[in-house]
Amino acid sequence: MKNILVTGGAGFIGSNFINHILLEKRDDYNIVNLDKLTYAGNLENLRPSEGKKNYHFIKGDITNSDLVNYIFEKFKIKYVINFAAESHVDRSILGSEIFYRTNVIGTNVLLEAARRFEAEKFLQVSTDEVYGSLGEEGLFTEQTPLSPNSPYSSSKAAADMMVLAFHHTYGMPVVITRCSNNYGSYQFPEKLIPLMIINALHNKKLPVYGDGMNVRDWIYVIDHNKAIDLVFEKGRTGEVYNIGASNEMPNIKIVKLILNHLKKSDDLIQFVQDRPGHDRRYAINSYKIQNELGWKPTYTFESAIQQTIEWYLQNKNWWERIISGEYKNYYELQYKNR
Ligand code: NAD
Ligand code: DAU
Repeated sequence: MKNILVTGGAGFIGSNFINHILLEKRDDYNIVNLDKLTYAGNLENLRPSEGKKNYHFIKGDITNSDLVNYIFEKFKIKYVINFAAESHVDRSILGSEIFYRTNVIGTNVLLEAARRFEAEKFLQVSTDEVYGSLGEEGLFTEQTPLSPNSPYSSSKAAADMMVLAFHHTYGMPVVITRCSNNYGSYQFPEKLIPLMIINALHNKKLPVYGDGMNVRDWIYVIDHNKAIDLVFEKGRTGEVYNIGASNEMPNIKIVKLILNHLKKSDDLIQFVQDRPGHDRRYAINSYKIQNELGWKPTYTFESAIQQTIEWYLQNKNWWERIISGEYKNYYELQYKNR
């Protein structure tokens, strides 16, 4: 059995990873999911995994070193996949402290425990945002210098540097993945795609930042997780792997596509004050993972985005519970004066 500590497994990408990638086909994996259940963590996301004998959930904080050490000891952890993070750029602009606490200190706590218990692999789930912003030309490669612009991305970049330093100094067997923007089921409603779907369904204005021409490179969450799985199994120690599906799109195009799918009018679009420090364009070169490990995306944007919109239509209970709670306060704070 491989005893794997998966952190942040109750969030969007982590829960998808546990449900679809690990538990579907891996009886030789014993998964311990450590998640603080912040506003973004939701055990409903993990229904398919509940009750499986090779899955355990622990509610707790990755910054709690006593707890993390206890988990390593009790479950004889030899592998770590670190999804846990504060993940939303706009929230990091409203207040940065928790981002550095979780994303930097939390990663340090995990690395120290991994060092102490001689982990055989530490996979850090990072992001393309650590590279900063592109102009109209070019793509992020693994050699692109780190140049993060938001509190969120700077905290992720700090964690990446720390992970690589643990490899360099202690020979720790680490590997880092840097992926572009994900979409799919169970994504928290604060992010662009679910926010626009839900607002449109309520005939509420769709707040598009700036001129709507900021570009993101979209990948379906299952394709991201298949890549993580491959890097976890076969990635070379000390290496960084970019992950992306070569699917660049300006925000306004996605917003219009959602409105079109839901048969709603473009009049719902409202251009609002831009995000401070808003990165203009992200685009990933994923040649390395494709060439070295044989990964390639399997979903087309055209079909997976339709599937995603349909999922939100069919799972109103899931998001209605979220938007009727604390989320209302966040929405008010984030959008009222834009
Ligand atoms: P998310 O916000 O949906 O989920 C984060 C999870 O981490 C939640 O379950 C939350 O409860 C948990 N968590 C937060 N702080 C914690 C703490 N201190 N201790 C334990 N658990 C804690 O995020 P996501 O979109 O699923 O992103 C997962 C990871 O992937 C993050 O590291 C993020 O930086 C990275 N990433 C995300 C994207 C994207 O498009 N969403 C793209 C590339 C990389
Ligand atoms: O690139 C990977 C990153 O993608 C991840 O590391 C982050 O965790 C994830 O949140 C995401 O960051 P973005 O800032 O790109 O995602 P978000 O969904 O917040 O915004 C996508 C684009 O849409 C961005 O250009 C801002 C714009 N936007 C977003 C919201 C929420 C709007 O125009 N209006 C909005 O209301």
